[in-house]
Amino acid sequence: MTRDQLQELIGKMTLEEKAAMCSGADFWHTESVERLGIPAMMVSDGPHGLKKQDQKADHLGVNDSIKAVCFPAGCGTAASFNRELITKMGEALGNECQAEGVGVILGPAVNIKRSPLCGRNFEYYSEDPYVASEMAGALIEGVQNKNVGTSIKHFLANNQEHRRMSSSSEMDERTMREIYLAAFEGAVKKQKPWTVMCSYNRINGTYAAENKEVLTDILRDEWDFDGFVMSDWGAVNNRVPDLYAGLELEMPSSGGINDRLIVEAVKEGRLEEAVLDRAVERILNIVYRFEDNRDKTAVFDRDADHELARKVAEETIVLLKNEDGILPLDEKEKIVFIGKYAARPRFQGGGSSHINSHKVTSAWDCVKEWGNITLAEGFRDEKDEIDEALMAEAVEQAKAAKAAVIFAGLPDAFESEGFDRGHMRMPNCQNELIARVAAAQPNTIVVLHNGSPVEMPWADQVKGIVEAYLGGQAVGGAQVDILFGKVNPSAKLPESFPYKLEDNPSYLYYVGEGDRVEYREGVFVGYRYYDTKKMDVRFPFGFGLSYTAFDYSDLKLSAENISDQDTLSVSVNVTNTGSRAGKEVVQLYVSDVESTVIRPVQELKGFEKVELASGETKTVTFTLDKRAFAYWNTTLHDWHVESGTFLVRVGKSSRDIVLEAPVNVDSTVKVPVRYTLDTTFGDVMKDPKAMEMMAPFMKLGILETGEDEGSNAASEAISSEMQEAMMRYMPLRGLLSFSGGAVTMEQLQGMVDALNAGQQS
Ligand code: BGC
Repeated sequence: MTRDQLQELIGKMTLEEKAAMCSGADFWHTESVERLGIPAMMVSDGPHGLKKQDQKADHLGVNDSIKAVCFPAGCGTAASFNRELITKMGEALGNECQAEGVGVILGPAVNIKRSPLCGRNFEYYSEDPYVASEMAGALIEGVQNKNVGTSIKHFLANNQEHRRMSSSSEMDERTMREIYLAAFEGAVKKQKPWTVMCSYNRINGTYAAENKEVLTDILRDEWDFDGFVMSDWGAVNNRVPDLYAGLELEMPSSGGINDRLIVEAVKEGRLEEAVLDRAVERILNIVYRFEDNRDKTAVFDRDADHELARKVAEETIVLLKNEDGILPLDEKEKIVFIGKYAARPRFQGGGSSHINSHKVTSAWDCVKEWGNITLAEGFRDEKDEIDEALMAEAVEQAKAAKAAVIFAGLPDAFESEGFDRGHMRMPNCQNELIARVAAAQPNTIVVLHNGSPVEMPWADQVKGIVEAYLGGQAVGGAQVDILFGKVNPSAKLPESFPYKLEDNPSYLYYVGEGDRVEYREGVFVGYRYYDTKKMDVRFPFGFGLSYTAFDYSDLKLSAENISDQDTLSVSVNVTNTGSRAGKEVVQLYVSDVESTVIRPVQELKGFEKVELASGETKTVTFTLDKRAFAYWNTTLHDWHVESGTFLVRVGKSSRDIVLEAPVNVDSTVKVPVRYTLDTTFGDVMKDPKAMEMMAPFMKLGILETGEDEGSNAASEAISSEMQEAMMRYMPLRGLLSFSGGAVTMEQLQGMVDALNAGQQS
């Protein structure tokens, strides 16, 4: 439908119909207007499968949704670092939506993993905004290729479940821009999600739903968002101001209560009808975008999508440890699979994203017919209690086998929407099982099922560690293919695994006090903190092993000097030096060598996944623009590059930088300085023009440095360098005290005014 047609239609709607259009008809539908032929549109969770609830709607999944396909959760899809693959997954989801008549799938969820404890980390992508935004963008592109909308969520700063509906995320401007907004920004600008879901929490005191700065000034005006904003379920508490702020659709239905508030506000002149019309137009624009592009031929082929879920899972499993090349295992050896999750994998998290899987393949399902593999349950996960009989059986079987694979991880009750974890540990009964099996069987491998890092007290006792994340319903096939070498692991950690929770930068402040959580670690989230502190971690950001090996060579930069308006092209050759084909995630970090602002030692600014046959070399290229070198400047309220040298670093993880090369970037933007009496001489000296204006004052005794050095006792005690250093930190008002009356307040103020005027000229 064209804009004119939409506006004509809205012109025919009554005030009441328009107000009603701004809230859900029920749990999952927008409102329809029968007399005008306006259809309802269905929305459904997501994000890693279709959770369409037909009857008895409730968003936390107590009631069943249709049988569907559960793909790997966000924690895993991010680990694939494979944009094309995730776009394919998005296309499958989009097709499922078309087949089921769902107009918008509620995801992806891109909130930054500030702490390993957040209950929804399994749905989220990364501790790094670039990875989060790129992987979210890949999924959005896929879904929307099928003319189905997405709802990137939860906008903004919903980084904990604790008091998520009332808590205020308190952070400074730079942190918000560089970390928390940036996770959304790239995807919103490039892939243009049809909708954005605002979060429950407050941001610096103002609820996301009524946060005009975030919903309108940034999202619409800066980022050109042209879809509609919907509330998280029940996030609206002040309907009319919310509408003003830029929240178009309230979900779910408020039973007409909030619609009536809108009607009253218009009638009483407190809300311009044009604001309401604009919201209705934004909503209907998307309703018709779906309606006009319905694919009536789409079929939800669950078995085909299950196969795709397996393919995705293969690239989401990270090989973390492989001592003595214990993996891949030999298919013919006597091996024992231990642990509940071997036969009943934990493959998704709890809450609104919980998918009703049409089938589940466990690792045991894939090997039980082989004859050489046995199964021992080892532990139960309903309660953290050691079951001595199960444990003894597992140890006995482990002793008798050539290798033991323990399928461990976090139980459902540990990770879910609605609450956070209280610690980073695995259940004690599992840690104990791993320790006892490893003591009995040197060839022990642990396969982990979890959506967020865990402490691994047994890491040095086992030979292999495989992070399977929450790999979706087809995870078992992917696990077996990796364990036995049919598939070469190629995933990398999109987050750091610290040794212990206390190492995490948010540890002291997470989950805040009452309804206030201060993000005091600022931009130092995840590896930005660990790398800058040179702190040891269990497994670093970007880390993941392969069954083959890769060499990097020939790092080339297209220029040695650029301006912040130029782009820099970076290329590097990557060679597979091992004997198997494999995929490598080549990572590009940028480091500002010297900076007047406090910055992380390096930040990820590019990644590419390449597939290489044994012996093959490919050239990987990256294009860097201003943003790769910039930080958010709070004077300019914009991205800014400080002139100077930057290192372009290419590596296999944030802790395994293989090659680096310098580039000099010149800024084309001058950050204005506002001079006051408190400005130091040092700051004035930074600007040659200001220095020139200061010249008359420089003639005054106290500013002369070292002219007759060595001629008296004072200059022996204080060298010219020392004098200059001291001067650097003296405020201009110091002239009043130290010029012996030669400078008056009026003269000084006049100079300050002249310096400020000089800025403008
Ligand atoms: C969740 C959203 C979800 C919505 C609808 C909310 O509780 O935070 O992620 O999309 O419910 O189920």
